[in-house]
Amino acid sequence: MNPPMKNPLDWIENDLERIKEKDLFRILTELETGQSPDITIDGKNYILLGSNGYLGLSVDPAVKEAAREALEKYGTGSGGSRLVSGSTDLHRELEDCIARFKKTEAAILFSSGYLANVGTISSLVGEGDVVYSDELNHASIIDGCRLSRAEIKIYPHLDTGRLESLLCGDGGRKCRKLVVTDTVFSMDGDVAPLKEITELSEKYGAALMVDEAHATGVLGRRGSGATEHFGVEERVPVVMGTLSKAVGSLGGYVAGSHKLVDFIRNRVRSYIFDTSLPAPSLAASIAAIRIIENEPERRERLWSLIHRFRTGIEGMGLKVMPSDSAIVPVLVGEAAPALRFAAVLRERGVYTPAVRPPSVPPGMCRIRVTLMATHTEGQIDAALDAFKAARDIVSDVK
Ligand SMILES: Cc1ncc(COP(=O)(O)O)c(C=O)c1O
Repeated sequence: MNPPMKNPLDWIENDLERIKEKDLFRILTELETGQSPDITIDGKNYILLGSNGYLGLSVDPAVKEAAREALEKYGTGSGGSRLVSGSTDLHRELEDCIARFKKTEAAILFSSGYLANVGTISSLVGEGDVVYSDELNHASIIDGCRLSRAEIKIYPHLDTGRLESLLCGDGGRKCRKLVVTDTVFSMDGDVAPLKEITELSEKYGAALMVDEAHATGVLGRRGSGATEHFGVEERVPVVMGTLSKAVGSLGGYVAGSHKLVDFIRNRVRSYIFDTSLPAPSLAASIAAIRIIENEPERRERLWSLIHRFRTGIEGMGLKVMPSDSAIVPVLVGEAAPALRFAAVLRERGVYTPAVRPPSVPPGMCRIRVTLMATHTEGQIDAALDAFKAARDIVSDVK
């Protein structure tokens, strides 16, 4: 008789146990509403303080109407990859709109920001090349670097001195070099010194790629992001971004020269072998970018709420990380108190999740607060009261 078959996936149970022992097990929280400041979970009302929809545009009436019209005209799905049957006039219109917004010659869409980073980085550099990456870059950048098989040189967070010494040390190497950085860092909310990084890339002959995911709609006079804020729009050759955050829709993009866009269209696998974005998302993005450009008062309001929240948290002795964006992380420390902190906030009617490893380094767990232009002052003040209560109840905050 054959011995009983062992389930080849038995190891998963042990792996899950190890995650649970470290307080790192993740579960889903289901929202029953859209990304508005007031949400419902399990029929109970909460103030949402953890959305990347910084301008509230995913529920904006004009944006929703644009999506509705596109839905009527084009339907729900795109039916194919861009190079087969999945290209429409709306795809081209959004690409032109992004190129204008980012002040580049051209732009190209991906189905997500993740796919834009992974595919673009792994095609711009390969074996024998070097990529220089900030240690806190987003996972999609890290994965793109790994997939490329280029040598990865990680420099300490925001450390342009170290970046320069790495670039200088490789001065004699005849290979492609790529510097890649988030402009606003997703977990810390701080901003890369883009002017210096641009100058260093130019000085040492490296291409520069920036990820504008959290800067779009928040930084710059027109809200186009950090390249605008730092006045380097015409100097950064590869500008990546996502439409899933302040733009309130879905999709990623790369903006740059016509040649770069032609290269991506012909070489990048996550573009070529992927079904294109559906029309309602495209139309929503076009409408949202129009609002971002034409209604700076929404951004001004967002900044005033960021300031109000930061000042309140600092005043109660909690540790706010030195961010300069709509991401205001309150440092807690270990995973267990971070979970308790988030639970107290939730009991007091505020929903904002605790961020734990691997999203952040061990011992650096935080409540990653994100503000939206659509919050009211009353909601911010109510949230601050909840933070005060959590501070008093959770004793082992860093
Ligand atoms: C900095 C950064 N880059 C890229 C992405 C990926 O974008 P998307 O969610 O559109 O895939 C994200 C968000 O998840 C991000 O925070």
